[in-house]
Amino acid sequence: MTKKTAITEQVIQQANDLRQQINHHNYCYYVLDQPEVPDAEYDRVFRKLEDLEKKYPELVTPDSPTQRVGAAPLKEFGQVQHSIPMLSLANVFNEDELQGFGKRIASLLDINDPEEISFVAEPKLDGLAISIRYENGIYRQAATRGDGVVGEDVTQNVRTIKSLPLNLIGKNYPAILEVRGEVYMPKKGFYLLNKRQQEAGGKTFANPRNAAAGSLRQLDPTVTVTRPLALFCYGIGDVQGGVLPDSQSAILEQLKSWGLRVCPEVQRVKGVGGCLKYFQSVNARREQLEYEIDGVVYKVDRLVEQEKLGFVSRAPRWAIAHKFPAQEALSIIKGIDVQVGRTGILTPVARLEPVDVGGVTVTNATLHNQDEIERLDVRVGDSVVIYRAGDVIPKVASVVKERRPKRTRLFHMPSHCPECGSDVMRAEGEVAARCSGGLVCPAQRKEAIKHFNSRRAMDLDGVGDKLVDQLVEKGLINDAADQYGLNKQQLAALERMAEKSADNVLQALEKSKSTTLARFIFALGIRDVGEATAQNLAMHYGTLETIMNADEDDLQTVQDIGPIVANHIVRFFSQKHNRDVIQKLMKAGIHWPEIDVVSAPVDSNFLDKTVVITGALASMSRDELKDKLQALGAKVTGSVSKKTDFLIVGADPGSKYEKAQKLGVEVLDEETALTYINHSLRG
Ligand code: IVH
Repeated sequence: MTKKTAITEQVIQQANDLRQQINHHNYCYYVLDQPEVPDAEYDRVFRKLEDLEKKYPELVTPDSPTQRVGAAPLKEFGQVQHSIPMLSLANVFNEDELQGFGKRIASLLDINDPEEISFVAEPKLDGLAISIRYENGIYRQAATRGDGVVGEDVTQNVRTIKSLPLNLIGKNYPAILEVRGEVYMPKKGFYLLNKRQQEAGGKTFANPRNAAAGSLRQLDPTVTVTRPLALFCYGIGDVQGGVLPDSQSAILEQLKSWGLRVCPEVQRVKGVGGCLKYFQSVNARREQLEYEIDGVVYKVDRLVEQEKLGFVSRAPRWAIAHKFPAQEALSIIKGIDVQVGRTGILTPVARLEPVDVGGVTVTNATLHNQDEIERLDVRVGDSVVIYRAGDVIPKVASVVKERRPKRTRLFHMPSHCPECGSDVMRAEGEVAARCSGGLVCPAQRKEAIKHFNSRRAMDLDGVGDKLVDQLVEKGLINDAADQYGLNKQQLAALERMAEKSADNVLQALEKSKSTTLARFIFALGIRDVGEATAQNLAMHYGTLETIMNADEDDLQTVQDIGPIVANHIVRFFSQKHNRDVIQKLMKAGIHWPEIDVVSAPVDSNFLDKTVVITGALASMSRDELKDKLQALGAKVTGSVSKKTDFLIVGADPGSKYEKAQKLGVEVLDEETALTYINHSLRG
């Protein structure tokens, strides 16, 4: 017979305390993005509560943080009637249409000048709308938008989202509070999820929105809990037994004070002018945001004005979505060519009927490799959806099979390199087909030189891609080192090259001679030796000679170098041609400061630290500073997060600075950073 352990007041109190601690840590971590304690401490408290609840099962409440994945899988989702309908938004696509919106509401509000109206501007998050119901501050229900009137009951799944508070903070919340917001998947989580799915042979998702939708509509919450979903709140639905402030901006502040997560990009702006400025600023930072957005939303701030404006059909008159230009467009494949890259990889490229994708005319799209072509089942003559994001190369997202003409042509990878006629090979287990011609192949030669000259390598910006093409085609250069032997007459005789530009090229060549060992190694274009590996090699060996003479075993003692990369390095340096080019380069006068292998990385203030640089620097370019920091063992990244150790700021720093301050990231001005750097070098 087991004796039931009696619950005492003290035990109840202890459970409450633990729950409060966990809720607080969750709030700091997921809502504020500002954890107060290490993960291990969180785990410890969490386990303590789990143990306590195991011992006294009667203690378990549905809002306990241990109950995020509570119930068993569902057979189907129930239905939820929205007591206040979930609306959609009207769109504008350009400034004129936005001005029209401003004029319309100004006239309805009897305001002379649309610039007098206050708006709240918010990112238009690319996820799924959700309505979340709290009763007496406790999470009770979540429903999708559905048709706006009836949605699906996704209470179990939304409970697994860590940025959702299961209990509201504070006391002054209404008895019934329905919060409206967007469930989305952060870009990074999406990328990792797809990687995981791919490795497990599972289904991958086309974009974060689909991934969020697929995850939220899982019948089994134990699956949803493994999906990196997040939540931003942007409005309210039904409210009973309490009053809310009288403006959208104040309501969002109030939601924040109750522990709900609101997008940090939200801003109050004045007039259509303020809206446009906001649009441009968000659009410029779009790539850096941790989540996908497809535009911004403007909402009239004051609720009395919202009420005056009312609704048309299913959208409010007081709000509008200003959409970014579409990133997808339809085109037709006219042909598939093959391009040969620096390492000899043959890439099939689709030649397209020119099409405007988000304001850029696209005529080519990459098809990556034969496997990708087969996966898409794409043929010459097909209608295809072209996708373009940021500055990445446009790609073919899918084929519109319904539009396939009778006659299409299949693509086959050529058996001989289109540039040099050498055999094309495909190594076992590799998706890439490669030209076996090496530096005999002019395409590989050109690409190798372009890589050598690129900004993060030798930074030879005076000798761009077009010029390299010309120089190789005219037989003036065969390798990167030949560039340093060019003279003014040769250059001035080239197409579109005046005497002045010939001088500029010579100057750029001269300037590039002074570099760093890491940049030089990276510039050589050894297979799989990227910037970070080049940096590690430079720090480990200190001189080019020792790297060139290292054997495979020794190379594997370098951080992040495994047998495959070690083999590539040894093979590269064992080829006479490569050694000859290096010798020519040294003879031309390429040089770098000596590296003190023993002391430099060891006593660095920046060793293993994550650093972000922002704003305009006075003493050097950001890339130069990045080089210096990397040489001291730092990881230099593009955006500030809670993992950032230092933010180095120049003039006019902008939003990264604000974020760093919010997260409590240590901020260094340029001078202090340089003092640290110099100190590290001497260390
Ligand atoms: S407000 C009364 N704000 O856009 C207005 N919606 O087209 C209702 N969305 O279904 C929505 N970000 O899924 C609002 N900051 C934001 C939003 C946003 C994304 C989505 C939401 C809605 C759709 C309307």
